[in-house]
Amino acid sequence: MQWGGRFGAGPAAVMQAINVSIGFDRKLWQQDITGSRAHAAMLGAQGILSATDVAAIDEGLAAIAEEIEAGRFGFIDALEDIHTNIEVRLTERIGEAARRLHTARSRNDQVATDFKLWVRGAIDDVSAQVKDLMRALAERAAAHAASVMPGFTHLQTAQPVTFGHHLLAYVEMLSRDAGRLADARARLNECPLGAAALAGTSFPIDRQMTAQTLGFERPTANSLDSVSDRDFALEYLSALSILAMHLSRFAEEIIIWCSSPYRLISLSDAFTTGSSIMPQKRNPDAAELTRAKTGRIFGALLGLLTVMKGLPMAYAKDMQEDKEPVFDATDAISLCLAATAGMVRDMQADTARMAALAGSGFSTATDLADWLVRVLGMPFRDAHHVTGRIVKLAEDQGVELAHVKLADMQAVEPRITEAVYKVLTVEASVASRTSYGGTAPVRVAAAAAKWLEVLA
Ligand code: ARG
Repeated sequence: MQWGGRFGAGPAAVMQAINVSIGFDRKLWQQDITGSRAHAAMLGAQGILSATDVAAIDEGLAAIAEEIEAGRFGFIDALEDIHTNIEVRLTERIGEAARRLHTARSRNDQVATDFKLWVRGAIDDVSAQVKDLMRALAERAAAHAASVMPGFTHLQTAQPVTFGHHLLAYVEMLSRDAGRLADARARLNECPLGAAALAGTSFPIDRQMTAQTLGFERPTANSLDSVSDRDFALEYLSALSILAMHLSRFAEEIIIWCSSPYRLISLSDAFTTGSSIMPQKRNPDAAELTRAKTGRIFGALLGLLTVMKGLPMAYAKDMQEDKEPVFDATDAISLCLAATAGMVRDMQADTARMAALAGSGFSTATDLADWLVRVLGMPFRDAHHVTGRIVKLAEDQGVELAHVKLADMQAVEPRITEAVYKVLTVEASVASRTSYGGTAPVRVAAAAAKWLEVLA
């Protein structure tokens, strides 16, 4: 009988079924053992436990860690969660001393501490993966600083850009994701241990000591908030959601670029699957699944927000539902980041086709308008109008802008000269975009080099 004195009978089967969390919170075993060892050491240092008890607890917990690591630990559903499973096993191993470990502590501050430690570790792992993806993108961007491709707005050909510039746009997004994860990490790094059930404790504990041992900046300041706060998990899931949204946009672009009408890039056999009926198919499944897994990550955030809304102070068992979404979203984002980095390193750009498509769809129309402004001193609005008429002419003749005859252009605007043709090529167009943050190959090469240095 786990709850001793007060309880005369065990739980109904369905009570145990709804209450049990060991199936998923066993993932917290390392954090639970680390937290308990820090707690025991502090109780010893404060004279609350004897040195002999602390030594027995410490050795016992180290041995249990080995058991779990080796897969020799028998997790028991009836013991509900990881905290009780470990404590009961410790009692089996060392007896009496184990029964003193829970002095000045509750499972409420224990689980908050364990979970924070887990999320903090996950933030570090995910951040490392984000940086690896940024590096992969920056490397490809450096190589493609001058590869011209069509730039789109509304998925309509807009102006030529370089492939490197396009890839670096994602590096910028990912750097903000890394920043959000770092912010969440800094904010979560306060230790709830010692808040006990909700009110603090009458024992002379040293919360600075446990906080420091566990790598936290400081102890949390309010015991109620300590056990009822799950903002850290929500912030983490928010950061993952925005990150997943970015990965899903990139996945969508990979899918578009690989599609037969576009054929801007191709993925090798390593990152595609075939079709069981159509032998010619080469499907970008990793990109599609990256796009799709965004759903579970958003779902995790919305799920946990919903669990937390309306919860009164302090701890409620509702909060046990905080872990699975966080674990699931972490697995998903980790796979997506690895798959995306894999695809970035794998993809081959068809630069000839990119350049050809970049020149289609009157993509240098803005360059023509800019020329009219720069050389003829026309107001931009008038230049826009003149260019529009020349584009219409090209469209009617079925030719690209660079192939409209000078005489035809002069029929629209007599002051246009032969010199205009120099700005109508895609190469001239991108080369001219030297404004800060622009797509000119010199700018892109410099930006890629800067990122590679930052990420080295
Ligand atoms: N398994 C619980 C959880 O994950 C641990 C905390 C239990 N606390 C309690 N008062 N029942 O939230």
